[in-house]
Amino acid sequence: MSVDTPVPVTARSQPQVRAARYRRPAAFLAAFAVLFGTALTSGLYYYLVPHDKNWNVSQVMLILHIISGTLAFPVLIPFVISHQRYQEGRSLLLLMPWLAFRHRQDEPTRKYHQRLLGHTLNGSILVLILSGFLMVVPGLLWFAGIIWIPDYLAYQVSNAIHLGTALVAVGLLLVHLRGRRNANRGGGR
Ligand code: HEM
Repeated sequence: MSVDTPVPVTARSQPQVRAARYRRPAAFLAAFAVLFGTALTSGLYYYLVPHDKNWNVSQVMLILHIISGTLAFPVLIPFVISHQRYQEGRSLLLLMPWLAFRHRQDEPTRKYHQRLLGHTLNGSILVLILSGFLMVVPGLLWFAGIIWIPDYLAYQVSNAIHLGTALVAVGLLLVHLRGRRNANRGGGR
């Protein structure tokens, strides 16, 4: 075989195949990390810094927040699907997540815990994004000429769910990533 002859896929080393499989999902994951980080910091700024300190900055933060938070969702979906397929060999568990909570026979406990964490993380991000959308519905309707102002209590509840799931998602992300790093060190998947 000459030097220029491409190496057949079957002859590629295992790490090369894994790297090729991961390249596209890794790009989605990197984009999600940037968007999630932007949404988190702008959301916390809007929440923690009094708006009368600088009204314009608060408004820019809110717009940045809604754009980055909204974009984080479509970017996360392809990553989660391919990550799920890579880890479990099928994406069915995403449609029926309760199946993921079964501890399979002979399954290492570490892998089982990682799966539980991953699915809880998916759920918390879903609730986080949905509660964010709920809070912007009155504003979107206003742009469409419809005035609808729900009870203040409804706003407070969705706001509390939004803040709570944001903090839970950050905690779960850190634990899930730590588990991943430990698995890599141990040579596991
Ligand atoms: C990607 C993930 C997201 C993260 C990490 C995130 C995080 C946060 C945080 C920490 C706050 C401040 C606490 C609070 O007021 O509840 C906040 C506020 C807010 N978020 Fe998000 N968020 C995300 C996605 C979204 C999305 C997709 C929307 C809407 C499309 C949205 C709409 C809002 C609004 C309107 C507020 C201000 C609520 C207020 O105080 O009036 N967020 N977000």
